[in-house]
Amino acid sequence: MILGDAIRAEIDELATRYPERRGALLPALHLVEREHGHISPDATRELADLFGLRPNEVLAVVSFYEMFGTEPRGRHRAGVCTNLPCSLRGARTLLAQLELHLGVRAGETTDDGRLTLGREECLGACAAAPMMRVDEVDHEHLDFEKASAILDGLE
Ligand code: FES
Repeated sequence: MILGDAIRAEIDELATRYPERRGALLPALHLVEREHGHISPDATRELADLFGLRPNEVLAVVSFYEMFGTEPRGRHRAGVCTNLPCSLRGARTLLAQLELHLGVRAGETTDDGRLTLGREECLGACAAAPMMRVDEVDHEHLDFEKASAILDGLE
């Protein structure tokens, strides 16, 4: 069993907040991602059991959102928001510059395992675009100099 008792209890508690149990799948995926660093095939099967879904249905949700991964990630995660408001203020260029700087494409992890770079969906900070989330912290009004300094400072 991949999912421990504590995370199962959290998922059960989350499920009480939704009219249908399956409504808690998305926050449950966030919990598993945070706890395990990715959504493994075993975790996918166990989540399917917990929600009365088929594993393929869980996998469809996992693969839809870039913030979830099926492979282990780096010690840190950075996601540049590339939704429209951030993109209009340079987020896609910023992401391309960070890819070059780090030597990885979005969705990949640096060779030293330090950082996984990716994209985020809108995080509600559109007025401060472009922005990125690093681990659980949002950084706003970014340009390449600010963003690369933040990422270079991660241990
Ligand atoms: Fe980037 Fe909303 S579009 S925070």
